[in-house]
Amino acid sequence: MAKLWGGRFQKSTDKKVDDFNSSIRFDKRMYKQDIKGSIAHATMLGKQNIIPKEDSDKIVAELKNILKDIEDGKVEFEIDAEDIHMNIEKILIERIGDAGKRLHTGRSRNDQVALDIRMYLMDETADIEEMLIHTLNVLVDLASDHTETIMPGYTHLQKAQPVTFAHHLMAYFEMFKRDLSRLRDCRKRTNVMPLGSGALAGTTYPLDREFVASELGFDAVTMNSLDGVSDRDFVIELANCLALVMMHLSRFCEELILWSSNEFSFVEMDDAFSTGSSIMPQKKNPDVAELIRGKAGRVYGHLMGLLTTMKGIPLAYNKDMQEDKEPIFDSIDTVKLCLPVFCDMIATMTVKKDNMLKGSKGGFTNATDVADYLVKKGLPFREAHAVVGRMVFYSIEHDKALDDLTMDEFKEFSDIIEDDIYNAISMETCVNDRKVIGGPAKEVVEKAIADAKEFLAQQ
Ligand code: ARG
Repeated sequence: MAKLWGGRFQKSTDKKVDDFNSSIRFDKRMYKQDIKGSIAHATMLGKQNIIPKEDSDKIVAELKNILKDIEDGKVEFEIDAEDIHMNIEKILIERIGDAGKRLHTGRSRNDQVALDIRMYLMDETADIEEMLIHTLNVLVDLASDHTETIMPGYTHLQKAQPVTFAHHLMAYFEMFKRDLSRLRDCRKRTNVMPLGSGALAGTTYPLDREFVASELGFDAVTMNSLDGVSDRDFVIELANCLALVMMHLSRFCEELILWSSNEFSFVEMDDAFSTGSSIMPQKKNPDVAELIRGKAGRVYGHLMGLLTTMKGIPLAYNKDMQEDKEPIFDSIDTVKLCLPVFCDMIATMTVKKDNMLKGSKGGFTNATDVADYLVKKGLPFREAHAVVGRMVFYSIEHDKALDDLTMDEFKEFSDIIEDDIYNAISMETCVNDRKVIGGPAKEVVEKAIADAKEFLAQQ
């Protein structure tokens, strides 16, 4: 088949090179953005009298037909036409002849692809932002039910101090809220219109770049033609934002996997979100959580792949840059696959409050509170720390929790201890006296939940 660029060639392209060079199998998903961009470009060419107004009208009308035909499944793309840009241009020329041949005036595929990918990523980012807002809603709703569900908090995966399940969930709320803000921030730098950069050095035609930008809803135009065609920072930034989303999902999934184990038994995934074993009849596996954790790997890989692809490319466009698409598309697809299933999984899981409370009681999670009790009675903290250390050693030897010690036993360690110790070191007091901003006390978490709901109502 004749190439749109075939004029200076004596031979047709090797079949293997056609297959190798072609990006249509993955860049066809940008057909909508490609057509939108071409409509804006053609409209501007007509307005500026760079091409006849009637040709511009014909192009715009036919591009709309092509869009409809693609959406109705009537268009077959061709490998030989290489990419989505030339496939659509070729169809246009087949349908309207000479007028169609005027569309590419003052444009290169290099600025065209830079435009299309920016528009595509902004559309996908908007979808992912919606999904993150849904995730935040699910977390807040779940947290609202668990402001009194006491569980052990950990450091080093060793029991540390009691918190509530609501407090734990609201930690993830903070993470996903940052993800949302990062995506919005990344979008600001994606929202810049590169058309007019040409192949690399702009163009001699009097293009109205600002008009094209405003037709397409961009906030600004790129300010250097070399950078306009060779910048892929926004792709890498998005890959980074998405890697962080996956990191957050993966951390929570790792906890859910641990908590589903018999050893923890803090949660149980709904049957609809678990799978069995082909050999062990008793098994109920948290496959969904494991797969989300596993998929974080490919999304990290794409970030590293993109950085590596870009690191040695001299200005301006080089074909290496066609390699930006599959990784970022897969990162987008993976995040869009994981977020909804994660939301439904956590919304349907059973939270075993009794086991969480029991878990918070073992492991001396109130040891800090015993020390704080002594401090409030006048002992310097370092001395109190040492006293309670001895108490813990004694309690381990006698297989007791700190709250099981009798008053006589307490007095052996310090005679300033009185009956009010028992209330001061109960799990409820340990949690609810931590009223510092950001703390786990019921009233503080309730305030965090109220603030979160207000934030979500404004989205
Ligand atoms: N398919 C190419 C890409 O994705 C489009 C631009 C190609 N330009 C060129 N002169 N080869 O990067």
